[in-house]
Amino acid sequence: MIKKIIPFLIVAISLSAPSYSQKKAATTPVSIDEKVNALIAKMTLEEKIGQLNQYTGDRDATGPITTSGDKVDQIKQGKVGSMLNVRGAKFTREMQQAAMQSRLKIPLLFGQDVIHGYRVTFPIPLAEAASWDLDVIEKSARIAGTEAAASGIHWTFAPMVDIARDPRWGRVMEGAGEDTYLGSLIAKARVKGFQGKGLGNLDAVMACAKHFAAYGAAIGGRDYNSVDMSERTLWQVYLPPFKAAVDAGAATFMNSFNDLNGIPATGNSYLQRDILKGKWGFKGFVVSDWGSIGEMIQHGYAKDNYEAADVAIHAGSDMDMESRSYINNLAKLVKDGKVKEDLIDDAVRRILYKKFELGLFDDPYRFSDGQREKKTLNKPEFLAAARDVAKKSIVLLKNENQILPLSKDLKSIALIGPLVKSEKDMQGFWSVDWGKEDHLVSLFEGMQQQAGKTQLLYAKGCDISDTSKAGFAEAIKAAQQADVVVMAMGEKYDMSGEAKSRANIHLPGIQEELIKAIQETGKPVVVLLMAGRPMVFNWTADHIPAIVYTWWLGSQAGNAIADVLYGQYNPSGKLPMTFPRSEGQIPIYYNYLSTGRPAKDDQDTHYRSGYIDMQKSPRYAFGYGLSYTTFEYSGLKLSAAKMGLNEQITVSFTLKNAGNVAGEEVAQLYLRDVVARPVQPVKELKDFQKVMLKPGESKTISFTIDKEKLSFYNEKIEWVTQPGEFRIMIGGSSDAIRLEDSFNLVD
Ligand code: BGC
Repeated sequence: MIKKIIPFLIVAISLSAPSYSQKKAATTPVSIDEKVNALIAKMTLEEKIGQLNQYTGDRDATGPITTSGDKVDQIKQGKVGSMLNVRGAKFTREMQQAAMQSRLKIPLLFGQDVIHGYRVTFPIPLAEAASWDLDVIEKSARIAGTEAAASGIHWTFAPMVDIARDPRWGRVMEGAGEDTYLGSLIAKARVKGFQGKGLGNLDAVMACAKHFAAYGAAIGGRDYNSVDMSERTLWQVYLPPFKAAVDAGAATFMNSFNDLNGIPATGNSYLQRDILKGKWGFKGFVVSDWGSIGEMIQHGYAKDNYEAADVAIHAGSDMDMESRSYINNLAKLVKDGKVKEDLIDDAVRRILYKKFELGLFDDPYRFSDGQREKKTLNKPEFLAAARDVAKKSIVLLKNENQILPLSKDLKSIALIGPLVKSEKDMQGFWSVDWGKEDHLVSLFEGMQQQAGKTQLLYAKGCDISDTSKAGFAEAIKAAQQADVVVMAMGEKYDMSGEAKSRANIHLPGIQEELIKAIQETGKPVVVLLMAGRPMVFNWTADHIPAIVYTWWLGSQAGNAIADVLYGQYNPSGKLPMTFPRSEGQIPIYYNYLSTGRPAKDDQDTHYRSGYIDMQKSPRYAFGYGLSYTTFEYSGLKLSAAKMGLNEQITVSFTLKNAGNVAGEEVAQLYLRDVVARPVQPVKELKDFQKVMLKPGESKTISFTIDKEKLSFYNEKIEWVTQPGEFRIMIGGSSDAIRLEDSFNLVD
């Protein structure tokens, strides 16, 4: 009986009391703008300010958010618009229930730093950039977004799209490296990956392009430091990846801790109002970086939080992450006539719009479904994808005498070094701390999976930052017993990342001495370098026959490295950042300007631009990376020797796999505007293709050059193209140009 009554009741209720949306459906659909405006009309000033306020949930997925005592109460009073570090279907549901007790029942947004994976950890972003494979980069973000969204999260604070030319800066690990063109494509891929088919889908999270802007150019590579930069460099080098993120539909932006030419980014209306929301027409909202509104006091830009809030809201910072400057001061600022309520309405409107787009007003718990969370996290196909991205992120730096790949017939391999059995370090700095109960594959384990009959010997040798050589003897003994030695050396997971700047980026501790001691055994040695940044390791680079840069590769690190060591996968990664020989060369990057006295070669210092105590060239150049096969470039053809301003030129050539195994090459196109005002870099990456070739196979590769690829910002920040000669350079690295020619751009 009951069964019969219930459907009847539902029909009766829905007929007699049509919902707001049903009523409207009969007439015209209600746009999100209308819904937002209707809601704003009902809000008090305090409730509006509450929407601009974001607190942390104390980085604990299970515990209460009580360290500051009053957060849940404030949520119930409508004084909080968003929480970060609140995750998991259960916990987000509980917090959302508190929000549903507020007068207007406006749902909370849950944000989290999902930087390189959520439950399944992917390679750090700098490593993924080394894959030069936009599809796998997008897929990695897609999976991270899918997992995060199944865990109650609406918003990731990624991608970080800061260009970084200084490996001392610990946050290079979070970005795509030094190049603007590659960085812009990767920014787009990551935004698309996180946002999937669009906000509102249950597997999509809002992306957040950060840190706006120029944070990567912190003076001396010291985190949070000032940035002093020409307007032209800002526009030419640092802003394009942000613009690419806007074009890809990034829902939000985060501003940055640094000052830019004396003005903190958080209080910088030129950046946030004129450029982002003005010229670029960005419709999403801007969140401050953690406490950065209040930090304008330490900068010496505001005398107190009242003034800081005034500056930040005028400058276009919509949401205050953790500084409490807005919640404590905006109402008074309005009352005092310093801030117009319209300005607050604009920020609220942007935030509410996203909450509507995410569907949170229809169902505030739609992302907090424990069943879906259970089914989604840690799926085998996600782990398989993580292994695929990880192997594609590995860069082979050296392989003399073809020590690699390793033969399956070896009797024994000695695995030596502080990172052989490490799991946590493989996870990298920004892993969401889920991993405890999950399986992380260490190098040792990955090798065990594939070693077959080969015996694996192990000795740690030393710890990462050790000063004691006590473990050397055991390691030397293991090496002496083995056919080949594989050494796993590098940084601990917390040596690169936020606030992890290093003045000395050499391989830490006595690790290079251990490498020397093992090399002296006369055994063939392969050194694996695991780190979050480019390191300096000159002795190793000069003396060790095989070197593989593996970065921090995430959950599947050990399997991916074993795939490469055994030749199950032929490495194809290329460096997204220049590796210096010494910290003294920093900043060092491939797309520098020529001087009036360019050195003829690395040794030429006679009144030339160089160093008298060191070569000026990098240890490993941008774009560099080897394969187990070799590639030949030949037959460069241009479709024309002259190009009109609105025409295009096609550049084609033959790429051949000249070796015995299949492999992928990243063929890179660089251009130089030979005479330009202002002067232009000696070369700039303008296109690339990653191509798979079977042994002996050849393919014709073509690049199209149009006006856009030849344009740059002049000193008035106008996007211009200047007629004249352009040099075309093609090769497998910025310092291994195989084909060259020129054409003329004519009016
Ligand atoms: C970092 C941001 C991060 C935020 C929230 C800040 O310290 O600079 O990149 O998103 O914390 O965790």
